[in-house]
Amino acid sequence: MKPMKIAEGIYQLSVNVEDILFEGLWEIPKGVSLNSYIIKGEKTAIVDGVCGWDGVPESLYALLEQMNITPESIEYLIVNHMEPDHSGWIESFRKINPDFKVVGSKKAKMLLDAFYGKDDNFICVGEGDTLDLGKGHILNFIDIPNVHWPDTIGTFDTLTGTLFSCDAFGSFGKIIDDRIYVDELSKEEQITYEQETIRYFSNVLAAFSLQAKKATAKCSELPVKLVAPGHGLIWRNPEEVFKAYSEYADCSKGPAREEITLIWGSMYGMTRKAVEHAVKVLEEEDIVVHVHEVPKDSWGTVLTSAWTSTGIILAMPTYEFKMFPPMGAVLEELGKKKVYNRKAFRFGSYGWSGGAQKELDEILTRLNMNWDFIEPVEFLGSPLEEDLEKIRIGVKELVKQVKDKILTEKHIG
Ligand code: FEO
Repeated sequence: MKPMKIAEGIYQLSVNVEDILFEGLWEIPKGVSLNSYIIKGEKTAIVDGVCGWDGVPESLYALLEQMNITPESIEYLIVNHMEPDHSGWIESFRKINPDFKVVGSKKAKMLLDAFYGKDDNFICVGEGDTLDLGKGHILNFIDIPNVHWPDTIGTFDTLTGTLFSCDAFGSFGKIIDDRIYVDELSKEEQITYEQETIRYFSNVLAAFSLQAKKATAKCSELPVKLVAPGHGLIWRNPEEVFKAYSEYADCSKGPAREEITLIWGSMYGMTRKAVEHAVKVLEEEDIVVHVHEVPKDSWGTVLTSAWTSTGIILAMPTYEFKMFPPMGAVLEELGKKKVYNRKAFRFGSYGWSGGAQKELDEILTRLNMNWDFIEPVEFLGSPLEEDLEKIRIGVKELVKQVKDKILTEKHIG
């Protein structure tokens, strides 16, 4: 990619990354962009940094060269957030010029020293502090802690109305054909991009939904013209991303959207028979359905669907007196990411003994998930007609409860 001017004196430098697991665990089927920004006043600052996943910022150096900017000429390194996808380049930069001034929050300083060795060229900033780069570029800093780590700040350029938001208002998905703005995508591409944004939010930020909601409200008060995140595309209509992020944050406590996610696993095909039946019943209903098989589908993919679903169906056999293990693992992750207050239904096969319910109850209680379950359907071995009928009734009841919950709590409440 080439450097892109996005406002007077402001340039985006980005690198697309793919074929990695984000944070070492989340699959990113459509890749992700790592975005850095140059602000040129009388002094030059760089906001966050792009580098290889191994911490080598060769791509950043190449982009700077295209702009005829030497690393030595950059006075300030503004680190909105110290996670190494944004800060991994600092160690290399320091070797070129040890006099760089790193700008970040108090908590960022602690992490900076821990990650890359003690650095006294640090300017500590927080809510309301400013940095004047000259030529009208006065930067305001705002505290937006825990979006993503406790150290996170946002940087707002008062001249151009550009909000450098780092992880906040970001998304998975690559930058394609130098189209760096969301509004440059076709309608179809925007639908796909929203899915990537939900994947990003649910996988990376979900556990901090409350803080994301607060940060969104705070940023909405600023005269923002451009939202320039650390990942994904730039928003020229800030209110759109503020509205979207506010909705995603609200999904944690439910109700979410009028959607059902069916998560299933089967050892020898007996639970699978019941799943196929449930899917047919769901297809007769006017509701969006996501179906994921575990462990084939990754945690991140299941979480993406569950995040926006008001209803969840769990279908799995009992395994050694407990739940089918991949289901237990996925549920733990949904709980840790705070997928709360869902309507739910469970069915599945057992052999010599049950036991899934006990483990399910333990996880739900320990993680305060507050899922409201319809009476489960368990069957010995393969499902009989009468079992399938009970599943049909359960699925239909769940659809009804999902629609009622949204009607009463979301639209009217
Ligand atoms: Fe993009 Fe939390 O780092």
